[in-house]
Amino acid sequence: MKVRDEETGPINHLLTSLTDLPSINVRSCSMQASGSATPSGKRNTLTVIDNRTGKQYEIPIEHETIKSTDLRQIKENADDFGMMTYDPAFMNTAACRSTITFIDGDKGILRYRGYPIEQLAEKCSYLEVAYLLINGELPTKAQLEEWTMNITTHTFVHENIKKFMDGFHYDAHPMGMFVSALAALSTFYPSAKHITEPAERTMTFYRLIGKVPTLAAFAYRHSVGMPYILPDNELSYAGNFLGMMFKVAEPQYHPNPVLERALDVLFILHADHEQNCSTSAMRGVGSSQVDPYSAAAAAAAALYGPLHGGANEAVLRMLDEIGSKEKIPAFIKDVKDGKGRLMGFGHRVYKNYDPRASIIKRLADQVFEVTGRNPKLDIALELERIALQDDYFIKRKLYPNVDFYSGLIYQAMRFPVDMFPVLFAIGRMSGWLAQWQEMLLDAEQKIARPRQVYLGHDNRDVTMLSQR
Ligand code: CMC
Repeated sequence: MKVRDEETGPINHLLTSLTDLPSINVRSCSMQASGSATPSGKRNTLTVIDNRTGKQYEIPIEHETIKSTDLRQIKENADDFGMMTYDPAFMNTAACRSTITFIDGDKGILRYRGYPIEQLAEKCSYLEVAYLLINGELPTKAQLEEWTMNITTHTFVHENIKKFMDGFHYDAHPMGMFVSALAALSTFYPSAKHITEPAERTMTFYRLIGKVPTLAAFAYRHSVGMPYILPDNELSYAGNFLGMMFKVAEPQYHPNPVLERALDVLFILHADHEQNCSTSAMRGVGSSQVDPYSAAAAAAAALYGPLHGGANEAVLRMLDEIGSKEKIPAFIKDVKDGKGRLMGFGHRVYKNYDPRASIIKRLADQVFEVTGRNPKLDIALELERIALQDDYFIKRKLYPNVDFYSGLIYQAMRFPVDMFPVLFAIGRMSGWLAQWQEMLLDAEQKIARPRQVYLGHDNRDVTMLSQR
């Protein structure tokens, strides 16, 4: 299937051009730069010499990549399958071309659609950023009003959702409830499976961005045995979520403006992060053309893990376990001895301070002025200080990531620890949807289906059970 969208138009690739040509030696196959010359005198191809056969192949380079399928022509024998690349965990494989999010991990840069995260966090609301991610440009005032109105009027969920929420055990993890509720939404909106229709996709954006705070708050209220609070359309996106979480008997919930803004900024910081584990799940599952609710449930499930969105929860549990500043050196020693990880540190892409962590650290001061200082902050600051001076962390370029300080803010705002990954998921929904749509509109994308290097038994015969 190739989906083309009149409204959105073809994807505009803005990727940078090649400057340097790599020189690679892989076992019996050596590669060196050669090929047709560019105006600068450099040649944008790789010449690959297969030392098994002596044959030479010229492979085009585009956007500093070669296409893995171009390697398939490299064969020792005519009936061979052809050369593949082996890249467990996708350490060096681009699975798509994207114009949504740019990260320079060495410099600690994060931009959505070209805008630095620092400016978006300072000047925009989360719904503006969600619009930007999905539509490619910041909205005008009129566009934002319409977008906000459409999302706000899709915050309610079917009454039956309350019934199946009630079916969960009292101590069910809210992320498990949230993942299940997302998948269940597909049964309420069967027309969403018409993913080639722009109007259906747009409706999905309104529904999913609108309903995730409601599902999240319902999961929390169930776990504490409190009645579900319906959305209040008079409140902002973050304010309404706070109301659905914490409203008790007051006729009208008034969020504290500092906390409301802090939560909105946290949603912005979590909105997208290019091809991370959950986004890859959204794209991969979505590539089967399943409905977007099912794909979003898969993405949320991927986010649940402690190495991804579950890390913010793990950080708080770790700080609790450490308990006091005096115990930090022993904890660090255990980490260095391989007895555990310093949660909230390290990142596959950032080899520098995560820019989101810097913003969150500043945001924490504003929040703590309202809520009072989270006593665990001192442990976190001391942990960071010690780790950043320690050779183990310096050598491996391990710095605080987005999850190191976010939990301290969430906790100060009275969110229970097991809600932290759910909060991450609310913000990330807009990014998942933007990436899902980009995948659908990309003529080069097909169902995701990695290859494998088979190293198991060759053909062998089954012996009867009685003879084994
Ligand atoms: N504490 C101690 N050592 C670490 C840590 C850590 N947090 N992270 C990485 N290392 C070590 C690791 O043991 C390895 O050492 P060695 O070379 O001696 O074997 C080296 O650093 C490289 O680590 P890796 O596991 O190969 O790196 P990765 O890119 O596969 O993993 C990561 C990235 C985020 C999963 C990892 O850094 C980690 O587990 N961090 C803690 C969990 C966490 O905070 N996750 C949130 C990530 S940011 C938000 C998100 O994406 O959801």
